Amino acid sequence: MKRNILLIAVFVLSQFATMQAQDAKSDSYRMKGYVDALMKKMTLDEKIGQLNLITPGSGIPTGSVVSTDVENKIKQGKVGGLFGVIGVDKIKQAQKLCMDNSRLKIPLIFGSDVIHGYKTTVPIPLGLSASWDMKLIEHSAREAAIEATADGLCWTFSPMVDIARDPRWGRIAEGAGEDPYLGSQIAKAMVKGYQGDDLSKNNTMMSCVKHFALYGASEAGRDYNTTDMSRVRMYNEYLPPYKAAVDAGVGSVMSSFNEIEGIPATGNKWLLTDLLRNQWGFKGFVVSDYTSVNEMINHGVGDLQTVSAMSLRAGLDMDMVGEGFLTTLKKSLREGKVTQKQIDDACRRILEAKYKLGLFDDPYRYISEERMKQEVLSAARRKAARDLAAHTFVLLKNNNETLPLKKSGTIALIGPLANDKSNMLGTWAVSGDPQMSIPVLEGMKNVGGSSVNIIYAKGANISDDTLFAKKINVFGTRIDIDKRSPEEMLTEALNAVNQADVIVAVVGEASEMSGEASSRTDITIPESQKILINALSKTGKPLVLVVMTGRPLALTQENSLATSMIVTWHAGIEAGNAIADVLFGNYNPSGKLSATFPRNLGQVPIFYNHKNTGRPSGPNSPKFQSNYLDAPNTPLFPFGYGLSYTSFSYGDISISKTNPKGNEKITASITVTNTGKYDGEEVVQLYIRDVVGTNTRPLKELKGFQKINLKTGESKTVSFSISPADLKFYNHNLKYDWEPGEFHIMIGGNSDDVKMVKVNWAK
Ligand code: NOJ
Repeated sequence: MKRNILLIAVFVLSQFATMQAQDAKSDSYRMKGYVDALMKKMTLDEKIGQLNLITPGSGIPTGSVVSTDVENKIKQGKVGGLFGVIGVDKIKQAQKLCMDNSRLKIPLIFGSDVIHGYKTTVPIPLGLSASWDMKLIEHSAREAAIEATADGLCWTFSPMVDIARDPRWGRIAEGAGEDPYLGSQIAKAMVKGYQGDDLSKNNTMMSCVKHFALYGASEAGRDYNTTDMSRVRMYNEYLPPYKAAVDAGVGSVMSSFNEIEGIPATGNKWLLTDLLRNQWGFKGFVVSDYTSVNEMINHGVGDLQTVSAMSLRAGLDMDMVGEGFLTTLKKSLREGKVTQKQIDDACRRILEAKYKLGLFDDPYRYISEERMKQEVLSAARRKAARDLAAHTFVLLKNNNETLPLKKSGTIALIGPLANDKSNMLGTWAVSGDPQMSIPVLEGMKNVGGSSVNIIYAKGANISDDTLFAKKINVFGTRIDIDKRSPEEMLTEALNAVNQADVIVAVVGEASEMSGEASSRTDITIPESQKILINALSKTGKPLVLVVMTGRPLALTQENSLATSMIVTWHAGIEAGNAIADVLFGNYNPSGKLSATFPRNLGQVPIFYNHKNTGRPSGPNSPKFQSNYLDAPNTPLFPFGYGLSYTSFSYGDISISKTNPKGNEKITASITVTNTGKYDGEEVVQLYIRDVVGTNTRPLKELKGFQKINLKTGESKTVSFSISPADLKFYNHNLKYDWEPGEFHIMIGGNSDDVKMVKVNWAK
């Protein structure tokens, strides 16, 4: 009887799967028919027009060029899409201009940088990644899509999945840190969150994974700089998150500014066609980055016509802002430098994206004032942003259980970021309004209530350097240099401290000190704040440092001076409330670093999954080993690190089999116990080392993680299933396979503190 029921269930399910596959087939058949018919009616100019993406410049331009004569170009069918147009009214106006005036009435696609939330700004992506919580991350992308589509948008230039190991590079803030496995999980979660299960719904949007590829490996951490690496490193360490996004069905890909193997990514046929389409099977469209086609002239590979033709031939479909396609492709076709098929293929991919978004059924489907009023900055969404932010903070140090703070007594709240609105949103929050954000002072009062006395003093400027401040303040004042002298500000702060039981100092980077074109050669806290921190520590009062940053900082000095230290990134619109929730213990911090925090800049690039070398360093750094004369090799805080107000103990790993064979699966389990006074969450991390290979292999690689909840005194056993698929890597022939032999299976609470067992896996 049971068997029959099972058989029937299997039959029904398989029928359902077949029907779904048929539906998908007939969907793509219908789409092909529609696009074929439309393209038959299109002139060459109209086809090239679809490849043109422009910005009227009302958003924040990220290059020196903005588009001109936008209205006429729309009317003449010379525009495929717009970005940087914010607000349902303006989007409606532009779409109407197109629908009422252009010959074929092909709707425009509207894109934007919805990077970490839309108007309800959530923490910067580096912060989001520190939550290690895929459900939360997917949900935050879903929420951003609901809010952004309610305001008329249907395409987001997110996620950025560039692996970054160099904290000098300001754009490390926009990604998920240094690890390919964690980065891949986040890439998938975000694509799913934005796109949902049906792109044509009016609350889902097309995602655009960027920047393809290797942008995070720019030399010396200087933005837009050259990258160069072996294919083995590319395939194993840098490409996985882009591929994960493609596997998750991302609708579009943005090419990067950098060159790869001497060919700019935007015109790199190996990258955009051989790898992306032929090897990975990507079916969507590729858009350039902001004028990255034109910038190939500076790269030194030809004039505008040459680089535009080269990009189209390479597999680029849409040209952002530079209009190289618009102005030269026709000539290139006449001269045989590109083919009609290449133009048609690119045009088809843009039209298919519009079809999938449902724009041909209803060009105004994302435009609804009612939805905008209901969704944008709704109270529920702000509450979710507050909760999310609290999950991203990483507790680095907590001596004498200084945190959580008591909701009584007097707190001296000091620092240039303690009562600041303009830096809370972080970089790339183009649609957010900093004035709507909650500063820490306000949050502390909200959460602390009337029984706690808070005395605020600014104490120092973010930086005293006026030239530096000028560079940071391009989008509005982020570094506000006080009229008072540094000495006056410090005296005021020390007076406040005199009356207090504990000091909370909110320090770090202004929001624009990270992000695009914001590389730094010094990754410490600016001098003005170092002086403040030093003076505060000398008072002998417990000193809690709340560090806002868009990058891993070298916090060696601060670590030696502070009693407690917590990194809160730039936490978004609800920053102040979320920080107060954590400082007062309403939420127990659970974030873990997704990028290594070095001791000093000289250690950079520094990352946990490095190789052993032939002369690995031993204790005391002896001569002729791979080490430094003046600092240890180890970072200040390793990848995966983060404390909690409670403590966790790990038992030993129990393994289902130590001699597996072939495609068997094994299970590694570990019991984790909450041994402290608070309920809390812990990210249990699985690392594997392939001890001997035909290629050298990293000392450890993250292969799994689980975030668990433990009540005080509670134990849970966490199990990871491991199969040969987890052992695969690309060898020097770029063959993706696993090799038999010894493996170290490691589990722990960060990359540096793990339990280990050995297994021997035979083929
Ligand atoms: C340049 C940036 O590199 C990219 O990330 C962004 O999406 C575009 N500008 C559009 O704003």
